[in-house]
Amino acid sequence: MPITIRRATVEDMVGMQNANLHNLPENYVLKYYMYHVLSWPEASFVATTTDISDSVGDELTIADENGNETKLDPNYVRQGEKLVGYVLAKMNDDPDQQNEAPNGHITSLSVMRTYRRMGIAEKLMRQALFALREVYKAEYVSLHVRQSNRAALHLYRDTLEFEVLSVEKSYYQDGEDAYAMKKVLDLEELKPSNYAHAKGAERIEDDFESDLLDATV
Ligand SMILES: CC(C)(COP(=O)(O)OP(=O)(O)OC[C@H]1O[C@@H](n2cnc3c(N)ncnc32)[C@H](O)[C@@H]1OP(=O)(O)O)[C@@H](O)C(=O)NCCC(=O)NCCS
Repeated sequence: MPITIRRATVEDMVGMQNANLHNLPENYVLKYYMYHVLSWPEASFVATTTDISDSVGDELTIADENGNETKLDPNYVRQGEKLVGYVLAKMNDDPDQQNEAPNGHITSLSVMRTYRRMGIAEKLMRQALFALREVYKAEYVSLHVRQSNRAALHLYRDTLEFEVLSVEKSYYQDGEDAYAMKKVLDLEELKPSNYAHAKGAERIEDDFESDLLDATV
């Protein structure tokens, strides 16, 4: 199924909030999503698909001038495009931390259940980390994760190489502790070309003399 990772826009806010409500107990008012996307418009990303064969939800539909019907379902960001994941990211704007180097924060990340284990969360995170570094000059990024959240912990610690800074006692409303995590952002390491290489893809260097297509024959 085709998946697109693209920058989040104001039109995606309801879909992001819908995905958040489905996937996490930490929920936010719509204004807080707006605050992220209007203040740091290049930091947050969504994953969407045009494969809408598994659509569920409200049976109400709207039809365009050609008679094509779209369900009035918050999973859709527009006709034929369904949101399946998001990462909500920001720069740290805490006035108490004004003497700190510029740094980013991952507020929320989730992928709809039927789209998990496909590498979508990793791609969303890598895009956000790259943008925070390249666009907003963040030197590091921080986040919190529930101690019991094995999937997210694996993603952050093992795949994306965040370090665990500390355990914050009763960080969550239900009393669960959080790991406070941090990753120093290195622009070279975050470049998409270097990421593909790190995952084992063969790197073909361009010497600007021979034709790369010929070289592979
Ligand atoms: C955590 C979450 C975002 C992962 O999304 P995903 O798209 O399935 O993750 P990916 O496919 O990109 O996997 C990234 C890595 O995490 C690992 N991973 C993903 N789900 C896992 C699981 N259930 N158990 C163990 N490892 C898991 C993958 O194996 C992969 O590791 P690899 O680099 O060794 O291959 C998703 O499970 C989710 O939305 N959970 C609910 C919301 C949530 O917990 N958000 C995080 C809050 S801090």
